[in-house]
Amino acid sequence: MPEQIRAIRGVRDILPAEAPTWQTLEAAAREVFEPCGYRELRLPLFERTELFARGIGETTDVVEKEMYTFQDRSGESVTLRPEATAAVARAYIEHGLFTQPKPVRLYTVGPMFRYERPQAGRYRQFHQVNVEALGEAAPALDAEVVGMLMAYFARLGLADRLALHVNSIGDAACRPAFRAALAAHLEANLGRLCEECRGRVGRNPLRVLDCKKPDCQPVIEKAPSILDALCGPCREHFDRVRAYLEALGLRYEVTPRLVRGLDYYVRTTFEVLTGELGAQNAVAGGGRYDGLIELLGGPADPGIGFAIGMERVALLLGPRPDPAAAAVLLVPLGEPALRRCLALAQALRATGVPTEVAYGGRKLRGELERANRLGIPRVLILGDDELAAGVATLRDMRSGEQRRIPLREAVAVLGGGPAAAGDRA
Ligand code: HAM
Repeated sequence: MPEQIRAIRGVRDILPAEAPTWQTLEAAAREVFEPCGYRELRLPLFERTELFARGIGETTDVVEKEMYTFQDRSGESVTLRPEATAAVARAYIEHGLFTQPKPVRLYTVGPMFRYERPQAGRYRQFHQVNVEALGEAAPALDAEVVGMLMAYFARLGLADRLALHVNSIGDAACRPAFRAALAAHLEANLGRLCEECRGRVGRNPLRVLDCKKPDCQPVIEKAPSILDALCGPCREHFDRVRAYLEALGLRYEVTPRLVRGLDYYVRTTFEVLTGELGAQNAVAGGGRYDGLIELLGGPADPGIGFAIGMERVALLLGPRPDPAAAAVLLVPLGEPALRRCLALAQALRATGVPTEVAYGGRKLRGELERANRLGIPRVLILGDDELAAGVATLRDMRSGEQRRIPLREAVAVLGGGPAAAGDRA
């Protein structure tokens, strides 16, 4: 027998039983973001490698270790997108979206690819809902974006199970001095850091603050705080963001260690954390990236956004009822009855009643068992004699109760509106 071919490690199928959960996540994004003025953008799944290397930063984990990069047949280096922000910025520049009234508000939903060690809540192909607001530096926009993220979780009924953490990581004026002070502290404690962090001290010391390893925690706890190092304009920006978050009635924690893993961030950064998913505790993260668009060859436009990890939110949300599950099974017991049932099924579906027809082959008992397994609550049984008399038998699968109904009223009785709405009986 030929060997079975399985999916790639860390890459999941989203099966039909999970579809209602995923459709809920996507519908909530549209329902929450569109009234705030955000419009959908659909981007390619792969880009030139240079876009991510330059945009995300050469010394980040994502670019150093996690990208799916390969040469296409013309020898060009291309990369499956590990995130969407750099690609949104590329499209914003390439299509001149910066000439539109600002802020330009965009969202995009889809798969991302990172070569990480797979575990529960962490995959090599995963999905994000991604939001970006470009071209506006006002701190009130930061609060709008964060408020919208929390409104998304509230819409899903998850707000009470999540915590919002915010921070400011300064900008080009104040971060270099902080970075130097942090590097000096880490240098002095090099022996007490994990191997990975020892490597980070010289290249990207801020990333050490994000290390979860127990060994590193005492050194991290004693590290200088970025919040003490903010320059005047960064401090004022952060104070105003906090005031606006409070005006929105949002509960949040200021977490000075929240530095995020991508190099484009400046000033406001934030994450939404859960205590329910073990080590993969971030369900969303984002921040400001005021230099990114310029770095990618565009105008000096600022930007802010976030991405939600859909697999993690799906785990929190759990299974959802299937709104398209069949509400009725039609069981014809003869050829004329089958023809009548085909037409009736069409009329029911047209009025929004998900309907299944038994196409024969099974005895009535077998069909009733099948309805039970599928959880179909009602079965309409139509024999040829009944058809001649213009009636059918309606069985309630929960109670087992049966009653006769006039065939011409079937659509009305089965919940599809007045009998006239398409039932030709
Ligand atoms: P990120 O923090 O790298 O940010 O990812 C955002 C979220 O995506 C994470 O909080 C997590 O929920 C989910 N995620 C990341 N990696 C994985 C994975 N391997 N498996 C499952 N879920 C994962 C960004 O990607 C930024 N582009 C966000 C942003 C937008 N910043 C500004 N605008």
